Amino acid sequence: MNFTYIKLALIVSAVGFLASCNHNFDRIPVHQQPRVEFAPNMYHAESYEPVSVIDDSVNFPEGYNQMPGNEGFGNLKLPVANTIKRGSTPYHISKDSLEFAARTLQNPLVLNDQVLAEGEVLYTRFCAHCHGETGGGDGPVSEKLKGVANLSGGQLATVSEGHIFHVITRGKGRMLQHASQIDANDRWKIAHFVKEKIQKKQ
Ligand code: HEC
Repeated sequence: MNFTYIKLALIVSAVGFLASCNHNFDRIPVHQQPRVEFAPNMYHAESYEPVSVIDDSVNFPEGYNQMPGNEGFGNLKLPVANTIKRGSTPYHISKDSLEFAARTLQNPLVLNDQVLAEGEVLYTRFCAHCHGETGGGDGPVSEKLKGVANLSGGQLATVSEGHIFHVITRGKGRMLQHASQIDANDRWKIAHFVKEKIQKKQ
């Protein structure tokens, strides 16, 4: 076959191939969109799609599905102000009110073997890599992150469980907060464990 035909065929198919990549035409200017959409209601739901909102009612009236009153925020609604996530307990004590938290907070969990056993698992999972298995401030991460506190003795031996809870919840100095990873109930279990097992060294 003539070489020119082969080249021509290659160019035509390459152009066709590249042009077909552009499937996300909701987001491209109207003059660049394909002229004919086959069965458009297959692509554009009338319902308020949470992630693929079409908010351009002028150029794209048939696909428009912006939730009224939510303009500028797509179709994802923010929770109503002051909404509390189910199962979570709001915690209003600010980071710098450690002394207040230490004085006023009481551990709501009854101390028993099960709570201590669960506290130990949580401590091992969330604290031991920095504070060490026995709380000496000598976990493997402490070789890099200097100044990890010794929980087992020194000035911290007398701190309250509220103090420990607050530090886990809000963080302190070089220790970041852990409230997003450990729920309040589990933080109290850890506080019991630190107080009863790490500090009393049983
Ligand atoms: C990434 C390492 C790291 C992890 C994980 C970590 N800590 Fe800490 N922690 C620190 C460092 C560093 C300090 C010293 C903070 C400072 O004073 O700058 C500290 C300090 C503390 C203090 C003493 C605060 C004070 O009053 O001086 C307590 C109590 C404590 N951590 C408890 C915990 C508990 C309980 C956990 C597990 C839920 C935990 N930490 C997880 C690094 C860590």
